[in-house]
Amino acid sequence: MYRTHNCNNLKRENLNESVTLSGWVQKTRNKGFIIWVDLRDRYGITQLVFDEERTPEEVFNKAKALNREFVIQVKGIVLERESKNSNINTGDVEVLVDELTILNKSNTPPFTIEDNTDGGEELRMQYRYLDIRRTPVKEKLIFRSKVSMAVRNYMTKEGFIEVETPYLIKSTPEGARDFVVPSRMNSGQFYALPQSPQTFKQLLMVGGLDKYFQIVKCFRDEDLRADRQPEFTQIDCEMTFVEQEDVLAQFEGLIKYLIKEIKGVEIEEFPRIKYEDAIKNYGNDKPDIRFGMIFSELNDLAQGKGFKVFDSQELVVGIAVPNAANFTRKEIDSLIDFVKRPQIGAKGLIWVKLNDDGSYKSSVDKFFNSSDLESWAKRTGANIGDLILILSGDAKTTRHQLSSLRMELAKKLGLRNPNEFAPVWITDFPLLEWDEETNRFHAMHHPFTAPKPEHIEILNKNPREVKANAYDLVINGNEVGGGSIRIHDGDLQAKIFDLLGLTFEEANTQFGFLMNAFKYGAPPHGGIAFGFDRLVAILCGEETIRDFIAFPKNNSGRDIMIEAPSYLDKLQLKELFLKTTEDKEN
Ligand code: AMO
Repeated sequence: MYRTHNCNNLKRENLNESVTLSGWVQKTRNKGFIIWVDLRDRYGITQLVFDEERTPEEVFNKAKALNREFVIQVKGIVLERESKNSNINTGDVEVLVDELTILNKSNTPPFTIEDNTDGGEELRMQYRYLDIRRTPVKEKLIFRSKVSMAVRNYMTKEGFIEVETPYLIKSTPEGARDFVVPSRMNSGQFYALPQSPQTFKQLLMVGGLDKYFQIVKCFRDEDLRADRQPEFTQIDCEMTFVEQEDVLAQFEGLIKYLIKEIKGVEIEEFPRIKYEDAIKNYGNDKPDIRFGMIFSELNDLAQGKGFKVFDSQELVVGIAVPNAANFTRKEIDSLIDFVKRPQIGAKGLIWVKLNDDGSYKSSVDKFFNSSDLESWAKRTGANIGDLILILSGDAKTTRHQLSSLRMELAKKLGLRNPNEFAPVWITDFPLLEWDEETNRFHAMHHPFTAPKPEHIEILNKNPREVKANAYDLVINGNEVGGGSIRIHDGDLQAKIFDLLGLTFEEANTQFGFLMNAFKYGAPPHGGIAFGFDRLVAILCGEETIRDFIAFPKNNSGRDIMIEAPSYLDKLQLKELFLKTTEDKEN
């Protein structure tokens, strides 16, 4: 038996018991006549003591050779500690060792395996298995496991069944690039890894399974950011005989359950914001509603007064920043620098201070009098002590810029409280989005999304105005999930493919299987998929998903531990009917 207890178990109640522990040496302190060792396992840390007088000589000598990360097993007696450590659960006791087995030696690790490590990001990624020994990393994986258990509990309780769908499939049109896998048995042909199980879950509904879910890996070859990984996990769900309201109610239930179960926080009914309003009021479709600074459009109040920066622009839009009239010149300059960064791209930023004495001070005093400024204050809802910030330009870009500024200010003012959860449904997305580059429509969500029934008749006449029965769940400014009611009618689906610029033949080659299934009694259905990594991170009060994935990829999409992706040898390439770079050159 390797152990009678783990390294987090022993307490006063165990005093004088003979115990066996196994684990890793976190730290040794050798005072010559006495050696202390912190023994670590997944559960915690227990202090071991080797004492020249009380420990057998040969065990004491062996202990002298212990180094960080050696794997050892010890037997000994639990004693009360002289200097207690209230930071750990076992801090009242220590184990006086009388038997020591070195189960494995260890090289000196490339960084210290403690809560605060000296290891840089790359190094820790390269030795991820060592990083996982550290409590903050390990705890995140344990947290993730807890959330996935809670998801399975809720979904099972609600009558959903978990079904696995294939990973080697044909390309799914979710808008990103596919990762592809060459087929050895089918010369020149490729599988694609699923960007999501979208078409399969719809086929499961045609198959009559009624309520499906799956915690499933998805693969997308897209540029990486803090909230994106090339392989990530979804909680993928689909239901039959449902309308949008049914789906929203069901999954509002899931999210409330998770927040309650995991964080102990009760959330009221989720607010809903229409896509169009989200864009107008927050400048994007994933608003963080934990704080205000809602956009106010000022065209009618600010244009036509001879200020060129505003006149003739499509949009003049501002926000009231609470209690920020006392920002120094330097602070305001840094905000101006922020919006001028190439990533944001604004030309400048107009500001108005509402001073404590009721007067106004602004960067445009030459052009606007105090009654102008007062009208802006009224419109933006600014009070005495607030600061109004204004951008102008074409509507899309300017909203985007002000949205970035709003988030930056929220960060600066500490308004993004990670312990507060502010979910919101975004609804009424446009069905289609015009793409200037390819000169055609794209599906805003995906091509299987149903238009609102009352908009079907304007599909031909005015496709840009058609709204979809599609919805996103946003929590604290992060898109955590998205879904829709699906088209279940073959003719309507064919019409949408046509609007998306697919010929009948192209649609048939890509989605013939689905069109075919729709001929055999496809029921009305709809669903949603949540980004599981994102959800877990947010529940933990963070936004970087990498930390919640056991073996993540770096920003270039590489796993630097196993060195993937990598080259294949010539023979393997030949078998897969692929050419090497050299072959191609010849
Ligand atoms: P969608 O493409 O919106 O919908 O994806 C659903 C959710 O998955 C998460 N997500 C990601 N998380 C991490 N890394 C990525 N690269 C990444 N891409 C997406 C987001 C997103 O909201 N089949 C549809 C769902 C449906 O219609 O039911 C789909 O995949 O949190």
